[in-house]
Amino acid sequence: MKKTNPTGLKRFGVSLEEDILSDLDELVIKSKFPNRSQAIRSLIKSSIITEKWDNNKIVAGAIVIVYDHHKRELNNKLMHIQHDYHSLILSTQHVHVEHDLCLETIAVKGKAKQLASLADKIIGTKGVKHGKLVMTDIE
Ligand code: NI
Repeated sequence: MKKTNPTGLKRFGVSLEEDILSDLDELVIKSKFPNRSQAIRSLIKSSIITEKWDNNKIVAGAIVIVYDHHKRELNNKLMHIQHDYHSLILSTQHVHVEHDLCLETIAVKGKAKQLASLADKIIGTKGVKHGKLVMTDIE
């Protein structure tokens, strides 16, 4: 039977083989989860994101890039790409982290595959040192 407590959390029993349970405990330690529940919650969430990704559902996320603004035409190229995809972009934050380095966080929302292709274009622009797209479930 499911029990509900005042925080809205529901408890349920999970039966796992010993080796899977020890894999879970290893994951808790490695990923610094506070407990098994948080680890399981995170695994379920990533699996939902993967499912949404597979079905090209609407998700939100952020593209984070680091680049050298002295690189010829790079600012302009990045700006052009962002204008081409303006319907997917919620906001852009530009921080001058070092004398030569800019850190840009581009908040995005749209179909998972469109976000991925936008991220590929931005991160793949010559001169971008490093970049990553993080997506999350919004339903
Ligand atoms: Ni800058």
